[in-house]
Amino acid sequence: MRAIAAADQNWGIGHEGGLLISLPEDQRDTFRRLTLGKTVVYGRKTMETFPSHRLLSDRKNIILSRDPSYAHEGALIMHGVGDVLAYESRHPEEEIWIIGGAEIYRSFLPYCEEAVISRIRHTFTADAYFPNLDLRLNWEKISSSDIIHSIRGYDFTVDQYYNHNICQ
Ligand SMILES: NC(=O)c1ccc[n+]([C@@H]2O[C@H](COP(=O)([O-])OP(=O)(O)OC[C@H]3O[C@@H](n4cnc5c(N)ncnc54)[C@H](OP(=O)(O)O)[C@@H]3O)[C@@H](O)[C@H]2O)c1
Repeated sequence: MRAIAAADQNWGIGHEGGLLISLPEDQRDTFRRLTLGKTVVYGRKTMETFPSHRLLSDRKNIILSRDPSYAHEGALIMHGVGDVLAYESRHPEEEIWIIGGAEIYRSFLPYCEEAVISRIRHTFTADAYFPNLDLRLNWEKISSSDIIHSIRGYDFTVDQYYNHNICQ
């Protein structure tokens, strides 16, 4: 499985339940391009940030909640990391993307072989963070795009990290 996130200079990813900033070209060229037709896994709180709580279209949506009675039409609901790992081993043909938020990234990072981080060259006020991959010995940044200038006025790069604990 793989993780995908947009993080600022301090690895901030969210504030007061919402995104720090939405970069339309990143949504389109990175997030949509990589996740379309794939399986996406996210936390119940991230689902609540989506407009009208609508699922992401043209993707298999897996929502994590500890509430055994939680339901969301059209989504698969899972109740722990182990459920997702078991699902992955039953469906090796599916490409699974962990798409947030902070708690879900923390829990699934050890199982991710790759992380794609759109790294915004700005520091926002944040209260939700992606783990700092530059401090993790098993994670290595293996590529970084040219600087992309967002129409929102922020520069960012798309950085690809590999987890050597999983990749041979
Ligand atoms: N920049 C980005 O790329 C990006 C991407 C996604 C989200 N975000 C931001 O991240 C923030 C949300 O992150 P968050 O950490 O507060 O919430 P979250 O990770 O989206 O969701 C947390 C919820 O997921 C469920 N959950 C978490 N771990 C679980 C486990 N092991 N087993 C079963 N259920 C589990 C629980 O739901 P229940 O409470 O229902 O039990 C928990 O309250 C927001 O600010 C959002 O905008 C940023």
